[in-house]
Amino acid sequence: MSLEKVTIPEKTATGVAHSKLILVGEHAVVHGQPAISIPFPLIGVESVVERVQGGVYLDSSFYAGPMESAPKILTGIVHTIKQTLKLLHIPYENLLIRIHSSIPPGKGLGSSASVEIAVVKSLFTFSEKPYTNEQVLQLANISETYAHGAPSGIDSLTITSPSPIWYRKEQPIDYITPNGDFYFVVADTGRKADTRTAVDMVTGLIKTAPKKAYGTLERIGEITYQVREALEKSGKQVLGFLLNEAQKELESIGVSDKSLNRLIYFARQEGALGAKLTGAGHGGCMIALAQNEAHAMLLSEKLKQFGAHDVWPFALKNE
Ligand code: MEV
Repeated sequence: MSLEKVTIPEKTATGVAHSKLILVGEHAVVHGQPAISIPFPLIGVESVVERVQGGVYLDSSFYAGPMESAPKILTGIVHTIKQTLKLLHIPYENLLIRIHSSIPPGKGLGSSASVEIAVVKSLFTFSEKPYTNEQVLQLANISETYAHGAPSGIDSLTITSPSPIWYRKEQPIDYITPNGDFYFVVADTGRKADTRTAVDMVTGLIKTAPKKAYGTLERIGEITYQVREALEKSGKQVLGFLLNEAQKELESIGVSDKSLNRLIYFARQEGALGAKLTGAGHGGCMIALAQNEAHAMLLSEKLKQFGAHDVWPFALKNE
C-alpha cells in the first residue's frame, strides 16, 4: 500500500528527541555504579503523527506498513505506541506515525530510546495533552526493556535532559556543569553493536567470575567519581587519563572489540588526551578527548581517513 495516498494532512503533530553519549560508567551503571552521560544534539529523531483513513501505520527506514505487521525488531516501539494510545484515549485507528532518524542504529548513541521518546512526545502533542518527563520516560522504558533486556534507564534519561547527567540507578539524577570547555570526537566503527548481547555478557561474567566482574565494575565506579571531579575541577589532562583507565577496565570484561580498539589506539597516537568506547561496545562508537577545538577538527579528519565510518566533533561547554 502507498502510505502517501492515504494521508489526509488536516492534523499532524511532531515530537523530537536528540541522541546521547555515555562519557563513563557504561555497563557498571546496570549493576548499581554511577555513570556520566551527555546529551548529543548533533543527531536526533523526529516523529510526525498524521491522521489517515484506516488503521495504524508506521513509516520508518526499518519498515513501512500496518503496525500490526511490523517486524520483530520493532516489537518494543509497537508496545510503547499501544500503551501511549491507551493512556491518551486515542482510538487505535486512522493514524500514520512517520519516524525520521539521523542517529545510526546499533551504535551506542541511544537510537532506540530517541525513537521511543520522539514517538511518545508526538502522540501527546497529537492528543493535545501536556506531558511530564516522567510520563514520557515510563512509556519509553516499555520498549527499552524489549531492546536491552535490563536497561539501567540512563539512555532515555539523557535523551530527555538538556545537560550532562550523573546517574545511579534508583537515585535522583544530578546535573553536571563542566568547568571549562572540553572538545571531543565521536567516531563510528561501522560495526553494529548489540546492546542486549553485551549487557547479557557482563551479567554472565558476574555469574561465572563474580570476583573479577564486581571488582572491575567497582573500579569503573571509582573512575566515574574521578571523572566528575575532572569535569568540575581538575581538567582535561586528568579527564583524558581517566577515560583511558575506564577503557582498560571495559577491555578486561570483554566489551570492547578490534574495531573499537583500532580507532581508540589510533586516536591516542594522534594526540587524543584519552579515548574509550561509548555505549554498549562490541562495535558501535568510541569517544576521544581532543586537546582543543582545532585538534578535534584535525583528529576527526584523521579518524575518517583511517576508516571511521562517521565522525562527529563536538564540544561540551561550560554553559
Ligand atoms: C547503553 O547505552 C549503556 C549500557 O550501560 C546499558 C544500560 O545502561 O542500559 C551498556
